[in-house]
Amino acid sequence: LSFSWHSSMVLIVAPPGEDAPPAGHFVRLSNIHDLGVLSKAKLRRGAKSCDAEYSRIRPRQPTRAHQSYSKLAAMTSLTSNLAGPLSGEARVPGDKSISHRALMLGALAVGQSEIHGLLEGQDVMCTARALRALGAEVERGNDGLWRVQGVGVGGLCEPAMTLEMGNAGTAARLLMGVVATHPITCQFTGDESLSGRPMGRIAEPLMRMGARIIARDGCRLPLTVVGARDPLAVVYPPPVPSAQVKSAVLLAALNTPGETTVIEAAPTRDHTEHMLRYFGAELRLAPANGGGAAITVTGQPELEGQKIEVPGDPSSAAFAVAAALIVPGSTLILRNIGVNPLRAGLYATLREMGADIEFREPRERGGEPVADIVVRAGGLRGIDVPAARAPTMIDEYPILAVVAACAEGVTVMRGLAELRIKESDRLAAMAEGLAACGVGVEAGEDYLVVEGRGGPPPGGGAIATRLDHRIAMAFLVLGMASEKPVTIDDGASMETSFPGFAALLNGLGANIA
Ligand code: S3P
Repeated sequence: LSFSWHSSMVLIVAPPGEDAPPAGHFVRLSNIHDLGVLSKAKLRRGAKSCDAEYSRIRPRQPTRAHQSYSKLAAMTSLTSNLAGPLSGEARVPGDKSISHRALMLGALAVGQSEIHGLLEGQDVMCTARALRALGAEVERGNDGLWRVQGVGVGGLCEPAMTLEMGNAGTAARLLMGVVATHPITCQFTGDESLSGRPMGRIAEPLMRMGARIIARDGCRLPLTVVGARDPLAVVYPPPVPSAQVKSAVLLAALNTPGETTVIEAAPTRDHTEHMLRYFGAELRLAPANGGGAAITVTGQPELEGQKIEVPGDPSSAAFAVAAALIVPGSTLILRNIGVNPLRAGLYATLREMGADIEFREPRERGGEPVADIVVRAGGLRGIDVPAARAPTMIDEYPILAVVAACAEGVTVMRGLAELRIKESDRLAAMAEGLAACGVGVEAGEDYLVVEGRGGPPPGGGAIATRLDHRIAMAFLVLGMASEKPVTIDDGASMETSFPGFAALLNGLGANIA
């Protein structure tokens, strides 16, 4: 078997009993979809012949015209009124981090992956659209399963248009890593919030690996990644604790010959590592010489399509858990929530504050720990949250600040510099919003102090959500336990991570209009 990547000419072996074409002749195939081909990674390793190790179909062009990114729906102001006790059981949408990664690794695998429970929020849909534009088939079946036909490691093709990332930082940063070691050029854009977020932390290691990044001042979107033709393996210690930086490098390592290592000083969420292994990549973990952990990926593996079950997102469940804690008399059961210890810092913190939270029937799904979470209202006191815990609950500080506002005494949260560069400056957004709701608050460069009311806060604030889903949801939860309703300027951002948030909470006893 031999083949050419630059045309639709492929030499095939004649089936037994049939005449083979004379040696050196090509057979021109009019319908390329009838072909099975080797992944580019195998080709690079010099596989000039093989016995039927095919992926099924390798479209060389995007399978579907890239649809232009539809902007978030028009601004929708929402008001959250005092809620009765919350009760019942619920499931929250799939984990955002895991959903992005499942689609990306599915696209880089050979064969079909099936994803159950994918988050169908705007952010993840940006990843799906981008992967289609890069040549993978990504479709949702009527059965709710998402099916991805991968192109194999190294097999993505150059998109014909800009990759529109909307509000999705994880999609933009991880995909930059994926394409950085493909010999293709990709342009990335995003909404106003994403265009303000720093990308230098991603660009820096990718440039060391041989990619070129062309960006405006401050290395922000829109930007262009010119992928490396001959990527270089690196040993990279990210200067900030960031799962996105780590993951961008590990994903870039997939199409890089040799071993690429990320040295992580403090552990951050490890979904990329779990999933790389699950898809068949070789990944080693070892203590690093100067402390921390060395995570090493061997490049150009043959990843195989997998079945993935995405657990409920603990960062989304956090809003329902917080609501149940601060609305007197509430009890909720949240089914099938991811409880990976590197995501569960909020739950440890809430327990230290006196919360009654139980993880029931802990089990494992697709390499990730999950449980049902049972939560009952009451008994909250302020605490000092250690800075070292921040990477395990980095997205949960907005909702923790809301819980702190209702607890007895002062809560101090430290080590929060990263919150200033999330979907919004979350320290500023929380300080401003809590003050507007009559809560005593102080924000420093990297800390937040909240004076708990030991009962319902005054509320009554009009909150600017700054295109930030977590600010929107946090203040709607505050309204559920406040004396006066809390209004947010725009609920549309919640579609990025938690479609149906208001309806789900209203179904449990909230009063969001
Ligand atoms: C994420 C990592 C975190 C987190 C983000 C999702 C991920 O960002 O805030 O919502 O899926 O890897 P950082 O890596 O910037 O901390």
